[in-house]
Amino acid sequence: MKKYLVDDTEYYVEVEGSGPILLFAHGFPFDSRLFVPVAERLSSRFTCVVPDLRGFGKTKLGADGHNSTGLPRVKMGRFADDLAILAAILSCQRHNKDEKIFFCGLSMGGYISLAFARRRPERLAGLIFCDSNVTADSPEKAADRMEIAATIDALKIPGFVDNMIPNLLSPETLKSRPEVVSALREMMISQTPDAIAAGSRGMAKRSDSSDVLPEIEAPVLVLGGEHDKLSPPEALDGIAAKISNAKRATVPHAGHLPPLENPDAFARAVVEWYDATFAN
Ligand code: MLT
Repeated sequence: MKKYLVDDTEYYVEVEGSGPILLFAHGFPFDSRLFVPVAERLSSRFTCVVPDLRGFGKTKLGADGHNSTGLPRVKMGRFADDLAILAAILSCQRHNKDEKIFFCGLSMGGYISLAFARRRPERLAGLIFCDSNVTADSPEKAADRMEIAATIDALKIPGFVDNMIPNLLSPETLKSRPEVVSALREMMISQTPDAIAAGSRGMAKRSDSSDVLPEIEAPVLVLGGEHDKLSPPEALDGIAAKISNAKRATVPHAGHLPPLENPDAFARAVVEWYDATFAN
């Protein structure tokens, strides 16, 4: 992996391929491994930039990964600012400092993508919004996340992860793709308690982003797994309807994590949208 200094922390990033920059933001509690299978398939079309977000994978939380009382907490806007800095570094290296980028965010990465769209609309060539939603947490969900943040420790991580997995994958993946289940579990249990606490607090405090949708001028692909229980197809249809220049696609044989469950179809949907939207 390459390393890039982003304010107070060093970002670990997989960079592969050539062409326009396509920056990926993974969900929670994952890391760059979520998108590597897709990046491999898209590297002949895009410069795929796949970071471990602040606190996750190899990237350390840094001082800005904590709140004013020193507890781990990363706001969605902080992640978005990190990625804007990373994109700016890469664009400068390519001698194209005002380059617009493509941004692909899944679930928590989708929340981050909306923060990016709000803060840096001038840098956005296109957005791929995957398996995510635009509203804030309900009070109950936010309280649940704050409780997790306050109590998670290394011993509790396996139970926390095993509780989540049935909601993340499609019934078909759970039943007949043990290699996908074990790769996902390994990625999730390798995250630190501080990362889980930081992401949980950040998501619990995020605000509603519905107002951003009609403001997005860049073309958007709203993409999701056919069997996603957390962001079901009908909910993604509703989000796409609020964006002026959105296309909708569904990834078959996948739940909440199509980049792992069906990377071929995920990559194909991206290429088809790109060719239909940006071909001269
Ligand atoms: C994710 O996959 O990033 C999570 O499902 C997001 C969340 O907990 O809201």
